[in-house]
Amino acid sequence: MKSHIRIVICGDDGVGKTSIIRCLISKSFAEENVPEVHPPVTIPPEVAPEPVSATIVDTSNVLNEVESELNRADVVVLVYDLVRTETLDRVKTKWLPRMRELGLDVPVILVGNKQDLPKEEYSDSNVERTIKPIMEEFREVEACIQCSAKVEFNIYEVLYFAQRAVIHPTTPLFDVSSHS
Ligand code: GTP
Repeated sequence: MKSHIRIVICGDDGVGKTSIIRCLISKSFAEENVPEVHPPVTIPPEVAPEPVSATIVDTSNVLNEVESELNRADVVVLVYDLVRTETLDRVKTKWLPRMRELGLDVPVILVGNKQDLPKEEYSDSNVERTIKPIMEEFREVEACIQCSAKVEFNIYEVLYFAQRAVIHPTTPLFDVSSHS
């Protein structure tokens, strides 16, 4: 079993990649959008959900710049914004296809952030309708989860899902068949 895993967080601009890391390590949240990439942080096994240390790597939203990090990942956390559904569309049209072109063979955790924000009517079912074919087409997506860095909802679970996908790879955690 691996004793250390590398988690690379990627996704479109402003989806909350840096906020998720900040929330995880310091329980802090900033309202402003600072286009910064958080330095890599290592979570020791004592405080991680699974007993392995995990280095979490933030990335910029520019795909070309992210590729060298993706190549070193044990697992990818691919973030979209639950309110800007075009960021979920790009998961399917841009991010996952590019990871395949790169020949990555690592699990992907699909994370819908900003769950605290009010959504338009039918938005939830839209998201579900979009995710289902993504999971069918891209079997590397091991799990889907919604979270909020702002209100600290499901943030630790993102880390848990990512670690678990590497340590105990299984069938998808979000079983699309039960939602049809
Ligand atoms: P880039 O560095 O531009 O790629 O952005 P990023 O993906 O790192 O996003 P960042 O963490 O900078 O957050 C972008 C904006 O979304 C900021 O204004 C955050 O305050 C806001 N934000 C992040 N997470 C949440 C959340 O869970 N809920 C709400 N309401 N806002 C959030």
